[in-house]
Amino acid sequence: MAEDIIQKTLRYLKEDFDSKGAAHDYWHLYRVLQLAKHIASKEEGVDMLVLELAALLHDLGDWKLADDGKDHTGQVVDWLKGQGVSNDVIADVHDSIQNTGFRHSIDGVKLTKIEAQILHDADKLDAIGAIGIARAFDYGGSKGKLIHDPNVAVKHFESTAEYMDPKKNSHPTINHFHEKLLLIKDRMYTKTGKQMAQHRHDVMERFLDEFYAEWEGKS
Ligand code: ADP
Ligand code: NI
Repeated sequence: MAEDIIQKTLRYLKEDFDSKGAAHDYWHLYRVLQLAKHIASKEEGVDMLVLELAALLHDLGDWKLADDGKDHTGQVVDWLKGQGVSNDVIADVHDSIQNTGFRHSIDGVKLTKIEAQILHDADKLDAIGAIGIARAFDYGGSKGKLIHDPNVAVKHFESTAEYMDPKKNSHPTINHFHEKLLLIKDRMYTKTGKQMAQHRHDVMERFLDEFYAEWEGKS
């Protein structure tokens, strides 16, 4: 039963996410699922059905991907209800997804449930390291952003509202590393997540050193 729901959810998402652009495509969900399973294998007492469903469904109905920029995470509940999943599992999945976005950590939200913590770490790991670099430039390109403009200063967002405002968050993609991606390693919850984040962080630091050196024709 559980494996059946996971497989059906994978097929449903393959259709729904094929048109969302490379930064949030089906393979992001696949990677987050793999990362979540890996982190969970080192932790105790994880409800794997809740975690796997949350990993797969965490971007469904997300405000960033919606044409109207609004939250549609009710889609997750509708899908799971349609599959006959119990109300308890649905509530736990929805709860795990609700507060994992980076925007919530700006406002100081702290996750307490292990499934939400693992999902958070898995989703954040996929935003950093080599894949994180690729995703950031893909996302920036899709929004028509420059790769770098030395005249645009790095900004630190004070609130979720500011981070979500497209007029206030129109910076070149390189700024996104300083405004978000380099901050991620210090916001991880699990031991495994922290170790993996440190490695991916070092990859980004090396990339940025090289980028700035090349920008000035010094490498
Ligand atoms: P979260 O799930 O933590 O809210 P997002 O969904 O906002 O993270 O980010 C998804 C991907 O898009 C990440 O790889 C992120 O780096 C990239 N991204 C988001 N905002 C920007 C931006 N302003 N510039 C470049 N990349 C971005
Ligand atoms: Ni995600």
